[in-house]
Amino acid sequence: MPPSTASVPPLTREYANVHAAANSGVGQARTAHGSAVAIAEIGAGLAAAHASVSPKFLYDALGSRLFEAICELPEYYPTRTEAAIFAEHGAAMAHAIGHDTTLIDLGAGNCAKAARLFPLIHPAQYVAIDISADFLRESLERLQQRFPHIEMAALGLDFSSSLALPPTVRAEKRLFFYPGSSIGNFTPQEAVDFLRRARAQCDSDGALLIGIDLVKDSAVLDAAYDDPLGVTAAFNLNLLRHLNHLAGADFDVRQWRHRGRYNAAESRIEMHLEARHELTVHWQGGTRLFDAGEAIHTENSYKYRSSAAVGLLEQAGFQAMNVWTDPQGWFAVIHARAI
Ligand code: TRP
Repeated sequence: MPPSTASVPPLTREYANVHAAANSGVGQARTAHGSAVAIAEIGAGLAAAHASVSPKFLYDALGSRLFEAICELPEYYPTRTEAAIFAEHGAAMAHAIGHDTTLIDLGAGNCAKAARLFPLIHPAQYVAIDISADFLRESLERLQQRFPHIEMAALGLDFSSSLALPPTVRAEKRLFFYPGSSIGNFTPQEAVDFLRRARAQCDSDGALLIGIDLVKDSAVLDAAYDDPLGVTAAFNLNLLRHLNHLAGADFDVRQWRHRGRYNAAESRIEMHLEARHELTVHWQGGTRLFDAGEAIHTENSYKYRSSAAVGLLEQAGFQAMNVWTDPQGWFAVIHARAI
Protein backbone atom coordinates (compact mmCIF):
# COMPACT_ATOMS: atom_id res chain seq x y z
CA MET A 1 0.00 0.00 0.00
CA PRO A 2 1.44 3.39 -0.91
CA PRO A 3 2.01 5.72 2.06
CA SER A 4 -0.77 8.20 2.73
CA THR A 5 0.08 11.87 3.02
CA ALA A 6 -0.12 13.88 6.19
CA SER A 7 -3.06 15.99 5.03
CA VAL A 8 -5.48 13.11 4.47
CA PRO A 9 -6.26 10.85 7.43
CA PRO A 10 -5.29 7.24 6.66
CA LEU A 11 -8.84 5.90 6.58
CA THR A 12 -8.44 4.82 2.98
CA ARG A 13 -7.90 1.10 2.61
CA GLU A 14 -7.34 -1.18 -0.33
CA TYR A 15 -10.56 -2.13 -2.05
CA ALA A 16 -10.11 -5.90 -1.82
CA ASN A 17 -9.52 -5.85 1.93
CA VAL A 18 -12.41 -3.49 2.55
CA HIS A 19 -14.72 -5.59 0.46
CA ALA A 20 -13.78 -8.71 2.39
CA ALA A 21 -14.10 -6.90 5.70
CA ALA A 22 -17.50 -5.50 4.76
CA ASN A 23 -18.80 -9.00 4.19
CA SER A 24 -17.26 -10.88 7.06
CA GLY A 25 -16.15 -8.35 9.64
CA VAL A 26 -12.52 -9.51 9.44
CA GLY A 27 -9.85 -9.21 6.77
CA GLN A 28 -9.88 -12.29 4.55
CA ALA A 29 -7.13 -13.94 2.60
CA ARG A 30 -6.25 -12.40 -0.75
CA THR A 31 -5.27 -14.50 -3.70
CA ALA A 32 -2.96 -13.45 -6.55
CA HIS A 33 -6.01 -11.64 -7.97
CA GLY A 34 -8.76 -9.91 -5.99
CA SER A 35 -10.07 -11.02 -2.62
CA ALA A 36 -11.52 -14.52 -2.32
CA VAL A 37 -14.90 -12.90 -1.63
CA ALA A 38 -14.75 -10.83 -4.82
CA ILE A 39 -13.76 -13.86 -6.90
CA ALA A 40 -16.63 -15.90 -5.44
CA GLU A 41 -19.10 -13.10 -6.14
CA ILE A 42 -17.86 -12.64 -9.72
CA GLY A 43 -17.86 -16.40 -10.37
CA ALA A 44 -21.42 -16.82 -9.09
CA GLY A 45 -22.63 -14.01 -11.35
CA LEU A 46 -20.87 -15.33 -14.45
CA ALA A 47 -22.15 -18.88 -13.89
CA ALA A 48 -25.81 -17.88 -13.31
CA ALA A 49 -28.43 -18.78 -15.94
CA HIS A 50 -28.67 -15.08 -16.83
CA ALA A 51 -25.07 -14.01 -16.36
CA SER A 52 -24.52 -10.77 -14.49
CA VAL A 53 -21.70 -8.80 -12.88
CA SER A 54 -22.15 -6.14 -10.20
CA PRO A 55 -21.78 -2.60 -11.61
CA LYS A 56 -19.39 -1.75 -8.77
CA PHE A 57 -16.70 -3.57 -10.76
CA LEU A 58 -17.02 -0.96 -13.54
CA TYR A 59 -15.02 1.49 -11.44
CA ASP A 60 -11.37 0.54 -11.47
CA ALA A 61 -8.93 3.42 -12.11
CA LEU A 62 -9.53 3.38 -15.89
CA GLY A 63 -13.28 2.84 -15.46
CA SER A 64 -13.50 5.87 -13.18
CA ARG A 65 -11.72 7.98 -15.81
CA LEU A 66 -13.92 6.64 -18.62
CA PHE A 67 -16.97 7.53 -16.58
CA GLU A 68 -15.60 11.05 -16.22
CA ALA A 69 -15.34 11.12 -20.03
CA ILE A 70 -18.98 9.93 -20.33
CA CYS A 71 -19.98 12.92 -18.23
CA GLU A 72 -18.42 15.20 -20.88
CA LEU A 73 -20.49 13.68 -23.72
CA PRO A 74 -23.26 15.89 -25.15
CA GLU A 75 -25.59 12.85 -25.18
CA TYR A 76 -25.08 12.11 -21.47
CA TYR A 77 -27.48 14.75 -20.11
CA PRO A 78 -27.62 13.67 -16.40
CA THR A 79 -24.35 15.26 -15.29
CA ARG A 80 -24.80 18.65 -16.94
CA THR A 81 -28.53 18.81 -16.16
CA GLU A 82 -27.83 18.12 -12.51
CA ALA A 83 -25.00 20.68 -12.54
CA ALA A 84 -27.37 23.27 -14.02
CA ILE A 85 -29.88 22.60 -11.22
CA PHE A 86 -27.14 23.13 -8.61
CA ALA A 87 -26.01 26.32 -10.36
CA GLU A 88 -29.56 27.69 -10.58
CA HIS A 89 -30.79 26.68 -7.12
CA GLY A 90 -27.57 26.52 -5.10
CA ALA A 91 -28.57 29.38 -2.81
CA ALA A 92 -31.96 27.84 -2.01
CA MET A 93 -30.28 24.49 -1.34
CA ALA A 94 -27.74 26.12 0.97
CA HIS A 95 -30.58 27.79 2.84
CA ALA A 96 -32.31 24.42 3.36
CA ILE A 97 -29.06 22.67 4.34
CA GLY A 98 -27.41 25.21 6.65
CA HIS A 99 -23.73 25.43 7.69
CA ASP A 100 -21.38 23.08 9.58
CA THR A 101 -22.76 19.81 8.29
CA THR A 102 -20.86 16.55 8.21
CA LEU A 103 -20.92 16.09 4.45
CA ILE A 104 -20.76 12.40 3.57
CA ASP A 105 -20.18 11.91 -0.16
CA LEU A 106 -21.40 8.51 -1.38
CA GLY A 107 -19.44 7.54 -4.49
CA ALA A 108 -17.26 10.65 -4.38
CA GLY A 109 -15.06 9.81 -7.42
CA ASN A 110 -13.13 12.98 -8.28
CA CYS A 111 -14.94 14.88 -5.47
CA ALA A 112 -15.79 17.70 -7.92
CA LYS A 113 -19.52 17.83 -7.18
CA ALA A 114 -19.00 18.12 -3.44
CA ALA A 115 -16.23 20.70 -3.94
CA ARG A 116 -18.70 22.97 -5.72
CA LEU A 117 -20.94 22.80 -2.65
CA PHE A 118 -18.20 23.78 -0.17
CA PRO A 119 -18.37 27.58 -0.74
CA LEU A 120 -22.18 27.43 -0.43
CA ILE A 121 -22.68 25.25 2.65
CA HIS A 122 -19.34 25.46 4.54
CA PRO A 123 -19.33 21.91 5.92
CA ALA A 124 -17.42 21.19 9.15
CA GLN A 125 -16.21 17.81 7.89
CA TYR A 126 -16.08 16.19 4.46
CA VAL A 127 -16.04 12.38 4.27
CA ALA A 128 -15.43 11.08 0.76
CA ILE A 129 -16.46 7.45 0.27
CA ASP A 130 -15.80 5.40 -2.83
CA ILE A 131 -14.99 1.86 -3.80
CA SER A 132 -11.99 2.96 -5.89
CA ALA A 133 -9.93 4.06 -2.92
CA ASP A 134 -6.71 5.00 -4.74
CA PHE A 135 -8.52 7.29 -7.18
CA LEU A 136 -10.30 8.88 -4.24
CA ARG A 137 -7.12 9.56 -2.31
CA GLU A 138 -5.58 11.49 -5.22
CA SER A 139 -8.72 13.61 -5.57
CA LEU A 140 -8.93 14.36 -1.87
CA GLU A 141 -5.31 15.38 -1.51
CA ARG A 142 -5.77 18.06 -4.17
CA LEU A 143 -8.99 19.23 -2.53
CA GLN A 144 -7.50 19.49 0.96
CA GLN A 145 -5.00 22.01 -0.40
CA ARG A 146 -7.79 24.18 -1.81
CA PHE A 147 -9.92 23.99 1.35
CA PRO A 148 -7.48 23.62 4.26
CA HIS A 149 -10.06 24.61 6.90
CA ILE A 150 -12.44 21.69 6.17
CA GLU A 151 -11.59 18.46 8.00
CA MET A 152 -11.38 15.74 5.33
CA ALA A 153 -11.30 11.96 5.35
CA ALA A 154 -11.17 9.40 2.55
CA LEU A 155 -12.90 6.09 3.08
CA GLY A 156 -12.58 3.11 0.72
CA LEU A 157 -15.85 1.29 1.28
CA ASP A 158 -18.38 -0.74 -0.67
CA PHE A 159 -21.31 1.19 0.79
CA SER A 160 -23.84 -0.73 -1.33
CA SER A 161 -23.70 -3.60 1.20
CA SER A 162 -22.97 -1.80 4.47
CA LEU A 163 -22.90 1.82 5.60
CA ALA A 164 -21.04 1.30 8.88
CA LEU A 165 -19.07 4.51 9.42
CA PRO A 166 -15.94 4.70 11.59
CA PRO A 167 -16.15 6.79 14.80
CA THR A 168 -13.99 9.48 13.17
CA VAL A 169 -17.06 10.55 11.18
CA ARG A 170 -18.86 13.26 13.16
CA ALA A 171 -22.39 12.36 14.29
CA GLU A 172 -23.70 15.96 14.18
CA LYS A 173 -25.65 17.25 11.22
CA ARG A 174 -24.83 14.43 8.86
CA LEU A 175 -25.73 15.25 5.28
CA PHE A 176 -25.58 12.25 2.96
CA PHE A 177 -24.76 13.50 -0.53
CA TYR A 178 -25.77 11.07 -3.28
CA PRO A 179 -25.72 12.85 -6.64
CA GLY A 180 -25.60 11.55 -10.21
CA SER A 181 -28.72 9.39 -9.95
CA SER A 182 -26.61 6.48 -8.74
CA ILE A 183 -29.70 5.52 -6.74
CA GLY A 184 -31.13 4.44 -10.13
CA ASN A 185 -28.58 1.64 -10.24
CA PHE A 186 -30.44 -0.14 -7.42
CA THR A 187 -33.84 -1.77 -7.97
CA PRO A 188 -36.58 0.33 -6.29
CA GLN A 189 -36.69 -2.10 -3.33
CA GLU A 190 -32.90 -2.09 -2.97
CA ALA A 191 -33.01 1.71 -3.19
CA VAL A 192 -35.44 1.93 -0.25
CA ASP A 193 -33.29 -0.49 1.78
CA PHE A 194 -30.15 1.51 1.01
CA LEU A 195 -31.77 4.85 1.87
CA ARG A 196 -33.08 3.34 5.13
CA ARG A 197 -29.50 2.44 6.06
CA ALA A 198 -28.45 6.05 5.39
CA ARG A 199 -31.42 7.26 7.45
CA ALA A 200 -30.34 4.96 10.31
CA GLN A 201 -26.93 6.72 10.34
CA CYS A 202 -28.59 10.10 10.92
CA ASP A 203 -29.72 11.76 14.14
CA SER A 204 -32.83 13.94 13.88
CA ASP A 205 -30.58 16.76 12.55
CA GLY A 206 -29.50 14.60 9.60
CA ALA A 207 -30.50 14.92 5.95
CA LEU A 208 -30.01 13.67 2.42
CA LEU A 209 -29.19 15.58 -0.76
CA ILE A 210 -29.83 13.32 -3.71
CA GLY A 211 -29.92 13.58 -7.52
CA ILE A 212 -32.49 11.42 -9.29
CA ASP A 213 -32.91 11.01 -13.05
CA LEU A 214 -36.50 11.33 -14.27
CA VAL A 215 -38.55 9.45 -16.89
CA LYS A 216 -38.31 11.08 -20.33
CA ASP A 217 -38.44 10.39 -24.08
CA SER A 218 -36.78 7.03 -24.80
CA ALA A 219 -34.69 8.42 -27.71
CA VAL A 220 -32.97 10.81 -25.29
CA LEU A 221 -32.35 7.94 -22.87
CA ASP A 222 -31.03 5.53 -25.53
CA ALA A 223 -28.53 8.09 -26.87
CA ALA A 224 -27.27 8.83 -23.35
CA TYR A 225 -26.41 5.17 -22.76
CA ASP A 226 -25.08 4.26 -26.21
CA ASP A 227 -23.21 7.27 -27.57
CA PRO A 228 -21.91 7.44 -31.19
CA LEU A 229 -18.30 8.00 -30.08
CA GLY A 230 -18.30 4.71 -28.20
CA VAL A 231 -17.14 6.06 -24.84
CA THR A 232 -19.99 4.33 -23.01
CA ALA A 233 -19.15 1.12 -24.87
CA ALA A 234 -15.51 1.43 -23.77
CA PHE A 235 -16.61 2.05 -20.18
CA ASN A 236 -18.83 -1.02 -20.13
CA LEU A 237 -16.27 -3.22 -21.95
CA ASN A 238 -13.52 -2.15 -19.55
CA LEU A 239 -15.38 -4.21 -16.95
CA LEU A 240 -14.09 -7.33 -18.74
CA ARG A 241 -10.46 -6.18 -18.37
CA HIS A 242 -11.12 -5.53 -14.70
CA LEU A 243 -12.58 -9.04 -14.29
CA ASN A 244 -9.48 -10.49 -15.92
CA HIS A 245 -7.47 -8.75 -13.23
CA LEU A 246 -9.78 -9.44 -10.26
CA ALA A 247 -10.84 -13.00 -10.99
CA GLY A 248 -8.04 -14.24 -13.25
CA ALA A 249 -10.51 -14.41 -16.15
CA ASP A 250 -9.51 -14.57 -19.84
CA PHE A 251 -12.08 -12.29 -21.48
CA ASP A 252 -11.07 -11.03 -24.94
CA VAL A 253 -12.67 -7.58 -25.09
CA ARG A 254 -12.87 -7.69 -28.92
CA GLN A 255 -15.27 -10.64 -28.73
CA TRP A 256 -17.91 -8.54 -26.93
CA ARG A 257 -20.17 -5.61 -27.72
CA HIS A 258 -21.92 -3.02 -25.52
CA ARG A 259 -25.72 -2.78 -25.48
CA GLY A 260 -27.64 -0.07 -23.60
CA ARG A 261 -31.38 0.31 -24.16
CA TYR A 262 -34.42 1.78 -22.39
CA ASN A 263 -37.05 -0.70 -21.16
CA ALA A 264 -40.15 1.49 -20.76
CA ALA A 265 -42.21 -1.22 -19.02
CA GLU A 266 -39.58 -1.49 -16.27
CA SER A 267 -38.73 2.23 -16.39
CA ARG A 268 -35.03 1.46 -16.64
CA ILE A 269 -32.03 1.48 -18.95
CA GLU A 270 -30.55 -2.01 -19.19
CA MET A 271 -26.84 -2.37 -19.85
CA HIS A 272 -25.38 -5.59 -21.24
CA LEU A 273 -22.21 -6.98 -22.72
CA GLU A 274 -23.10 -9.30 -25.59
CA ALA A 275 -20.94 -12.08 -27.05
CA ARG A 276 -20.29 -11.38 -30.77
CA HIS A 277 -19.97 -15.12 -31.45
CA GLU A 278 -19.83 -18.38 -29.51
CA LEU A 279 -16.93 -18.31 -27.06
CA THR A 280 -15.64 -19.77 -23.82
CA VAL A 281 -14.47 -17.83 -20.77
CA HIS A 282 -12.40 -19.19 -17.90
CA TRP A 283 -11.88 -17.61 -14.53
CA GLN A 284 -10.40 -18.75 -11.24
CA GLY A 285 -12.71 -21.56 -10.16
CA GLY A 286 -15.03 -21.64 -13.18
CA THR A 287 -15.65 -21.70 -16.91
CA ARG A 288 -18.60 -20.95 -19.21
CA LEU A 289 -19.60 -21.23 -22.83
CA PHE A 290 -21.47 -18.18 -24.16
CA ASP A 291 -23.62 -18.54 -27.30
CA ALA A 292 -23.50 -15.84 -29.97
CA GLY A 293 -25.68 -12.97 -28.69
CA GLU A 294 -25.73 -14.26 -25.13
CA ALA A 295 -25.18 -11.40 -22.70
CA ILE A 296 -23.82 -10.47 -19.30
CA HIS A 297 -26.06 -7.99 -17.52
CA THR A 298 -23.87 -5.22 -16.08
CA GLU A 299 -26.21 -2.51 -14.85
CA ASN A 300 -29.74 -1.12 -14.64
CA SER A 301 -30.41 2.60 -14.45
CA TYR A 302 -33.94 3.22 -13.17
CA LYS A 303 -35.72 6.43 -14.08
CA TYR A 304 -38.41 7.83 -11.76
CA ARG A 305 -41.32 10.24 -12.02
CA SER A 306 -40.73 12.95 -9.41
CA SER A 307 -43.76 11.79 -7.38
CA ALA A 308 -42.30 8.28 -7.27
CA ALA A 309 -38.90 9.68 -6.23
CA VAL A 310 -40.50 11.51 -3.31
CA GLY A 311 -42.41 8.32 -2.40
CA LEU A 312 -39.15 6.36 -2.36
CA LEU A 313 -37.59 8.81 0.11
CA GLU A 314 -40.70 8.78 2.31
CA GLN A 315 -40.64 4.99 2.41
CA ALA A 316 -37.05 5.20 3.65
CA GLY A 317 -38.09 7.46 6.53
CA PHE A 318 -37.20 10.90 5.17
CA GLN A 319 -39.55 13.89 5.32
CA ALA A 320 -39.83 17.62 4.65
CA MET A 321 -38.54 17.56 1.13
CA ASN A 322 -37.49 20.29 -1.25
CA VAL A 323 -37.47 19.25 -4.92
CA TRP A 324 -35.58 21.23 -7.60
CA THR A 325 -35.72 20.36 -11.31
CA ASP A 326 -34.47 21.76 -14.64
CA PRO A 327 -36.91 23.53 -17.01
CA GLN A 328 -37.38 20.35 -19.12
CA GLY A 329 -38.11 18.24 -16.04
CA TRP A 330 -35.35 15.76 -16.92
CA PHE A 331 -33.65 15.51 -13.52
CA ALA A 332 -34.45 16.26 -9.88
CA VAL A 333 -32.31 17.24 -6.90
CA ILE A 334 -34.06 16.58 -3.60
CA HIS A 335 -33.18 17.66 -0.06
CA ALA A 336 -34.93 15.44 2.49
CA ARG A 337 -34.70 15.61 6.27
CA ALA A 338 -34.41 12.79 8.80
CA ILE A 339 -36.39 14.95 11.31
N1 TRP B 1 -24.68 5.60 -12.76
C1 TRP B 1 -24.52 5.84 -14.19
C2 TRP B 1 -25.92 5.91 -14.78
O1 TRP B 1 -26.74 5.05 -14.55
C3 TRP B 1 -23.65 4.79 -14.75
C4 TRP B 1 -23.55 4.62 -16.23
C5 TRP B 1 -23.62 5.53 -17.22
C6 TRP B 1 -23.32 3.36 -16.86
N2 TRP B 1 -23.45 4.92 -18.44
C7 TRP B 1 -23.25 3.61 -18.24
C8 TRP B 1 -23.15 2.06 -16.41
C9 TRP B 1 -23.01 2.55 -19.14
C10 TRP B 1 -22.90 1.03 -17.30
C11 TRP B 1 -22.83 1.28 -18.68
O2 TRP B 1 -26.23 6.84 -15.49
